[in-house]
Amino acid sequence: MDVQKFIEEKIEEVKKTVGNERAISALSGGVDSSTCTVLADRAIGDNLKVIFIDDGLMRQNEPEEVHQIFSDLGINVDIIDAQEEFFTALKGIFDPEEKRKAFRNTFYTVFGREVLNRGAKFLVQGTIAADIIETKGGIKTQHNILEQIGIDPEKGYGFKTVEPLKELFKPQVREVAKELGLPEEIYARMPFPGPGLATRVVGEVTPERVETVRKATRIVEEEIETLKPFQAFAVLLNDRGTGIEEGARKFGEIVIIRSVESRDAMTAEPTQIPWEILFKISKRVTTEIPTVTRVAYEVTPKPPATIEYI
Ligand code: XMP
Repeated sequence: MDVQKFIEEKIEEVKKTVGNERAISALSGGVDSSTCTVLADRAIGDNLKVIFIDDGLMRQNEPEEVHQIFSDLGINVDIIDAQEEFFTALKGIFDPEEKRKAFRNTFYTVFGREVLNRGAKFLVQGTIAADIIETKGGIKTQHNILEQIGIDPEKGYGFKTVEPLKELFKPQVREVAKELGLPEEIYARMPFPGPGLATRVVGEVTPERVETVRKATRIVEEEIETLKPFQAFAVLLNDRGTGIEEGARKFGEIVIIRSVESRDAMTAEPTQIPWEILFKISKRVTTEIPTVTRVAYEVTPKPPATIEYI
């Protein structure tokens, strides 16, 4: 791919599509949404407003870090606190696809409101080819797919979508990001799914359960950093295992360590993590998160498993 040419063409395309109207960019801080935000900023400048929804499902300090990175790039990001709305929508849902759909509906409801309130007509989002393939193939409903499954975003939510990266896979998006001058902490970032930590909580998504997985994810990321895996994180199972605390029985939570190597997330292999690192993660998770009594490492490739748990 001629990266420079791709960027020029997409800037022209976004300019032509949006014209003199306003657009909102849905930024999550991941490589896809960051790249298309910078691209759209180059295309339409002040007519673009960048919004980061704090859905309560982000990793530790993520909203603040993303705000800082974009401020360094000269792009202002409005953070919208929608935590309560998301947790209310996810309450009582155990089924993985239902959870994904509840997330997607809330995501677009919040954005629809922002688009309307800010007099905009377009939502710029970082959909990539893999998102479309997985949703259309019936594997899982990715959070950012509408038209491709027959939902008209304008009728349903009041905006048209602009998706400049929809033909690309992850490695090409990283090339575009680098060429656009995004910092390494963005273009080399581990993928993080739109529905955030909700994809890593099996069973009901509650603020308490998300907090457990958030803490465990931070530990996994810290301990595994030097291995530079494609993606590494923690998962909270919806089951319990007996443990011991101060000589007494304790029926605690179970955390899974998931780390994979991949090129484009369509297939993946488990990372061969050295034993010392695995054991250190296990020790830290059970010590720093006392509600957890068990830690296990998952060794399933994709397929047959997917990378995320829902
Ligand atoms: P799976 O779990 O399908 O994930 O093997 C493949 C890649 O996609 C990410 N992922 C998502 N990204 N919205 C996204 O933006 C989603 O709904 C979504 N679901 C999964 C996942 O983290 C992995 O990199």
